[in-house]
Amino acid sequence: MKALLRDIFRKKKYDIEATQFVRKLGVLDLTGIGIGAIIGAGIFVITGQVAAHYAGPAIVLSFILAGLTVLVSALVYAELSSRYPIAGSAYSYTYTSFGEFLAWLVGWNLLLEYGVSVAAVASGWSGYFRSLLEKNLNIHFPDIISGKAPIFLNLHFDLIAFLVVIAVFILLFVGIKESSNVNLFIVFIKLFTLGLFLAVGLFIVGIDLNNLNPFIPEPAKNFKGEDAYGWFGVLRAASIIIFAYLGFDAISTVAEEAKNPTKTVPVGVLLALFISTFLYISVSFTLVAIAPYKELGVSDPLAKAMYMHGQVLVGNIIAIGAIITITSVMITMGLGFTRVAYALARDGLLFSVFSKVHPKFKTPYASTIAGAILLSILAGFVPLTELAELVNVGTLFAYFVVGLAVLYLRIKNEPGGTYRVPFPWVLIPLNLALIIFVTSGLPPLTWIRFFIWVVLGILIYVIYGYHKSRKVWM
Ligand code: ALA
Repeated sequence: MKALLRDIFRKKKYDIEATQFVRKLGVLDLTGIGIGAIIGAGIFVITGQVAAHYAGPAIVLSFILAGLTVLVSALVYAELSSRYPIAGSAYSYTYTSFGEFLAWLVGWNLLLEYGVSVAAVASGWSGYFRSLLEKNLNIHFPDIISGKAPIFLNLHFDLIAFLVVIAVFILLFVGIKESSNVNLFIVFIKLFTLGLFLAVGLFIVGIDLNNLNPFIPEPAKNFKGEDAYGWFGVLRAASIIIFAYLGFDAISTVAEEAKNPTKTVPVGVLLALFISTFLYISVSFTLVAIAPYKELGVSDPLAKAMYMHGQVLVGNIIAIGAIITITSVMITMGLGFTRVAYALARDGLLFSVFSKVHPKFKTPYASTIAGAILLSILAGFVPLTELAELVNVGTLFAYFVVGLAVLYLRIKNEPGGTYRVPFPWVLIPLNLALIIFVTSGLPPLTWIRFFIWVVLGILIYVIYGYHKSRKVWM
């Protein structure tokens, strides 16, 4: 028993100085990587759906609540990445502080976060792509392959979402060079697209106060028969909107490639989050102020709001911007998925086949093929909001654990790191409470799916990882 406890809490020691990477990324690159991973289908798609189905114009409040929940987690990541500027993010932080078993669970949930995110945003890609073809070339896809009509009982299928995931994984298979300059260019396109939406929405189309009234609609059942609107709707919406904020941890995954990481990584994390939060609040406000929220439950709400007012060119530019944006999120998240699978397998916690590297392309091909098969099926058959909810619960679990990790480091009075969460005994408990509060807005089905995922993870650890993990312990 004693040996078992010792084993599952064994900690991995990382050599912070020993990196094979060249340290070349500065604050601008890091902030760009953060915005590149954060801004995606959340703002371009989920905003409209969640306003229509759960919160109405009060979606703006949901964005604020979700932003506050994530903010302290970002500070926590900033502190941990300044203490341990190593690849692997939450997985490695947990490995050094809480030991192997929790680290495995966090890593297992990171797989869920990155993998299911790729599948989730694919339906946004599909929505904007179809609307571009419909508006401009009058090409209409049959409802049955657009996820709009069931193919069997209640089963929907989105063919384009399915195909685009396969395409992204083919790119990842042959090896896509992540270049910071390309990323900065894509970030520019995102900022330009959202800026254009704000400018045209506020100054040309103009706010219609009727759309904002009532700001918090009366509680009612939505079209799925679920409870919605009222304050509960705001909470329910926030539990989905968390998705829009995910991705800032992408910065800590490249900590080994950053110049002076103990300073630049925390600054990059916070800057990326502040810029995204500012844009989210202003874009969601503008969206519900220029269009009736009930009409926004589509997969291309930002473009639709422009088409509605006769702004076809602007709508088209936004649709193209959304497609480019979502593609970059899919690539970043897909890369995250294959890297986490690779790292877990290399450490012996996940089946060793996933650490095999392709002789020619130098990519972890088994995890890439597994991702292509599983995630394309998820993208094709499961609706965006359900996938987003599952991602959120897995990710918030990781945020919860790393929050505890920082408190633990404080209790042990561990030195190190240049950045520290201010007022940790106030902010972190508040953060943990907010995480519990926001996740309470998720429906039972999401909890059941998450529970199944965790149990599967524990089983894999018991039958495999516990025996195979590499012996590199402190
Ligand atoms: N935050 C990312 C998005 O909204 C996952 O697409």
